[in-house]
Amino acid sequence: MSTETQTPEKKTAVPEKEVEFFAPGSQEDTISQGIEVGGGFSSGDLSMRRLLTMAAVSPEGSTDPVDIALKDSLTYQFRHGAPNVEVPPEDFDPPKGRRYSLARISNFKRTKFGPDLKMVIARGDLESVMNVAEVKREERTLLRKNAQMAGSRGFRCLGVATATVGEDGKLGPFQMEGFINVRPRGTGLSGEDLTPTSDDWVRLQVWSGGLRFLHWLNVFLIVTMSVTGFYIMNPFFGDTYFRGIEIGYLMGWMRFIHFTAAFTWIAVGVVRAFMAFTSKDRYLRWSTFWPFKKKEDFRYLRETLGAYLFLRKEGPLYVAHNPLQQLTYTGIYVIGAFQMLIGLALYALPHVSANPIWSFLATPNYLFGVPALRNFHAVIMFLFWAFVIAHIYLAFRADSTERNGGVSAMINGGVYLRRGSKPVDAPEV
Ligand code: HEM
Repeated sequence: MSTETQTPEKKTAVPEKEVEFFAPGSQEDTISQGIEVGGGFSSGDLSMRRLLTMAAVSPEGSTDPVDIALKDSLTYQFRHGAPNVEVPPEDFDPPKGRRYSLARISNFKRTKFGPDLKMVIARGDLESVMNVAEVKREERTLLRKNAQMAGSRGFRCLGVATATVGEDGKLGPFQMEGFINVRPRGTGLSGEDLTPTSDDWVRLQVWSGGLRFLHWLNVFLIVTMSVTGFYIMNPFFGDTYFRGIEIGYLMGWMRFIHFTAAFTWIAVGVVRAFMAFTSKDRYLRWSTFWPFKKKEDFRYLRETLGAYLFLRKEGPLYVAHNPLQQLTYTGIYVIGAFQMLIGLALYALPHVSANPIWSFLATPNYLFGVPALRNFHAVIMFLFWAFVIAHIYLAFRADSTERNGGVSAMINGGVYLRRGSKPVDAPEV
């Protein structure tokens, strides 16, 4: 390493200690079985091929298994001849007293036809390389999340950062480039190990076919009623009388579709209520909608709330709905029941003389007035939309953070739990 090239470590006194990328002891196995390179993550503008090239920069004739594996993998990436990534030993600072090495290279191209750049490459433990590059919090989180995923497949992530050497020979600040995944051969999970029957994960069948059918029927009906209801409130497409054009029977069709979907939805509601009190399936019973059954339930609710507010790292584990979901879904059911009653009241008005049931259902019109009921009906629609947006966001978020497969569970019914977890609402798995 040339003397003009000041690196952060040279300024601070660090004990001279060799730090291995793989834990001591694993080295012999590593050498005998070799190292496997498995993709990586580019956080800047570098292609994965160039990132790999950077990571492979190592001293001439290096016998380090990681260096060998990286150089080997270049031959697969560059079919018409891999670039020379070997540097003279004096241009390479091994990871002494720190968890990364430094290599000086004078002809690195960031893009195929870009200029030859002089730069110093820091390569090694991801966290240490991120520190050198002074990576910002958001980028750190992104890198860590991706590293976590690679880690779950047995990979260690070799961080790569670069600093350009200026005309005057001075070293610029380090910039994070990403990481390359490496693992000792044979340690990874593959094929069957990654399937849900793996020892690490347990798949539980939670949601019955009937419930899933009702869920998607609800989605279809709510969208249909929202589009047609919105049209009744504000005919937002097609011609209108206001422009003096004959609109034909468009509004009639909208109302017909709205009422057909509405009565189907009422039937769905009745079936769901019936299931809540008669089903043998514990996850369909009314009790899964009510989180206050025993003393600890209040604590679980508080802890769940804390996790949602980012005050706690994790809330209690539930296979079905957590206490906040239970309360939200109960709330949505109650609001849905109100929507049905208001809709029925509006629908009943022209039929009051037909029979006493319609005249009873029409009562709210006399108590609140038709305009107020129509307004309530429209406001509840907007509440439903707010719920749908939050519901979809939280479902996808939980699926990606907890890895529980919650989104696909609404299609296939199964969720995943780590073996040994103790959910509140199911026996230990
Ligand atoms: C998610 C469910 C529902 C949504 C989003 C929804 C939405 C709407 C909206 C926005 C309107 C227009 C309100 C206005 O006039 O300003 C409307 C009208 C109406 N809805 Fe619904 N609705 C739903 C369920 C129901 C149900 C269950 C019924 C029961 C029969 C119903 C019956 C009616 C009736 C009778 C009208 C008045 C039609 C008219 O004035 O010509 N709706 N709906």
